Amino acid sequence: MRSGVLSLGSCALALTIVSAAQEKRSVKAGVYAAAQAGRGQTLFNSKCASCHAPNRFTDDFFYQSFAGKPLWEMFDVISDSMPEDNPGSLKKEEYADVIAYLLQLNKFPAGDTDLPTDKDALSAILMEKP
Ligand code: HEC
Repeated sequence: MRSGVLSLGSCALALTIVSAAQEKRSVKAGVYAAAQAGRGQTLFNSKCASCHAPNRFTDDFFYQSFAGKPLWEMFDVISDSMPEDNPGSLKKEEYADVIAYLLQLNKFPAGDTDLPTDKDALSAILMEKP
């Protein structure tokens, strides 16, 4: 009797985990907040614009690298290797802010909450071509 209840419980738990992992969202679904993109623009201007024009992040090279992939890949590349003259020098939240700005540049809509910084949450968001 007891073990029956236990296995029912763990089965429900497993189902919850599976459905949470499958909850994928697109960058078209409002995954960042407008205020966050505003902070990101300020950061971009001081930390990125010396080497990159904004249109570097709305062209085909950009989509070839990142479209169709989890947004985590973009976060990972940028937070690992940029700014090229001082990689990893921004806080995680600041990298998320800059990426929110890049999404805004691509005219993806803003939503109610900030883009997250953790790997699982960013892995569940799909980067697309506008
Ligand atoms: C000192 C110069 C410099 C600064 C500052 C800099 N970058 Fe870069 N970045 C480069 C160079 C050089 C490349 C490689 C050539 C290219 O792809 O444009 C690059 C490439 C990239 C790529 C392309 C990666 C790919 O695989 O397509 C991204 C995205 C990027 N930078 C984002 C940023 C962001 C965001 C910032 C600000 C936080 C930043 N960079 C600051 C020099 C810089």
